[in-house]
Amino acid sequence: MKTYRIAVIAGDGIGQEVIPAGIEVLKSAAKGSFQCEFTDFPWGSDFYLRTGRMLDADAFEQMHKFDAVYLGAIGDPRVPDHITAREMILPFRQQLRQYVNLRPMRLLTGIDSPLRGRTAADIDMVCVRENSEGEYCGIGGRLHRGTPDELAEQTGIFTRRGIERIARYAFTLAQGRPRRLLASATKSNAMQHSMVFWDEVVAEVAKDFPDVTYRKYHVDAIAARMVTHPQTLDVILATNLFGDILTDIGSAISGSLGVGPGGNINPERTTPSMFEPIHGSAPDIAGKGVANPIAAIWAGAMMLDHLGEKAAHDRILSAIERVIGSETVKTPDLGGKATTAEMTKAVLGAMGR
Ligand code: NAI
Ligand code: MG
Repeated sequence: MKTYRIAVIAGDGIGQEVIPAGIEVLKSAAKGSFQCEFTDFPWGSDFYLRTGRMLDADAFEQMHKFDAVYLGAIGDPRVPDHITAREMILPFRQQLRQYVNLRPMRLLTGIDSPLRGRTAADIDMVCVRENSEGEYCGIGGRLHRGTPDELAEQTGIFTRRGIERIARYAFTLAQGRPRRLLASATKSNAMQHSMVFWDEVVAEVAKDFPDVTYRKYHVDAIAARMVTHPQTLDVILATNLFGDILTDIGSAISGSLGVGPGGNINPERTTPSMFEPIHGSAPDIAGKGVANPIAAIWAGAMMLDHLGEKAAHDRILSAIERVIGSETVKTPDLGGKATTAEMTKAVLGAMGR
């Protein structure tokens, strides 16, 4: 039987609650057709408080023997967020060449959008976010700290190779979706170097995809459009920073941060890709057993899809849709009273049917 080796980093806060839920569902989805072998890594904020590091020094080399990484969330009120993000999440994406951040944003039937009158037919987008360079490349520094001359510089890096490969991935994805629309988020009116370059390279790639309707929008305009006309958007191509912001809007209008999954993908498959819920560690509800496990479960399904197990992905997705659509079992973020365990049980039950 085919066996996939999965590195598991449950991480902090509700990561420790939703990842075990996801693993249960993955095991059930695999039953009879393939196997997942899970290896836990204790990295994250507790590890940092004990050792002074977010992860092992050779963490990335350790990852190479796995087929995929399943991540919960990283972030703890006791550790500054720039340490957790900069020492762990961003290096993972860069070192493992996961240059695509793929984030579906769908309003599932059974969830009320904060947008009045919107239904599942109106909100079905996916963001393809550049995940390795751009505004989050990490280049820059601070000078003359603590003096009146203090300064900080943070540089955005955009390469032809980086823009071209992310654009190509997004257009290919758009080509396979029924509406075949691609909206590129830019800001070339105000950023005359990087974003004009972005627009030029995206427009060149667009020529290879004549069957996809391509349009660019300034990021502020597309942010508004996601709220006022979400039904006009399909695939959204965005830089690292813009995609980060737009996907929070996308998951908010889809009803809850507790639902949206994400994949950090190396399409060339030379290193493992990493799948995670897009939400953080939610310290406000951590330890209470009420976190919505759907985002983590859906991220697990995306991982199976990436590994070539599309049928298992589809089984999980359809179970999620049936549970959310049933109006009976819902966690508090969706207006219900169910616990993480009850919601997970409901998904497992729906998969069995
Ligand atoms: P957050 O996503 O953890 O929480 C925002 C709000 O959404 C909270 O009210 C939370 O209770 C709720 N929420 C999130 N996920 C939920 C779920 N599954 N079920 C029910 N409710 C849910 O974002 P926040 O509060 O800004 O960040 C908390 C920590 O997480 C910070 O340290 C931050 O840096 C980190 N973070 C980590 C991310 C990652 O690991 N990729 C992503 C975003 C934030
Ligand atoms: Mg974010």
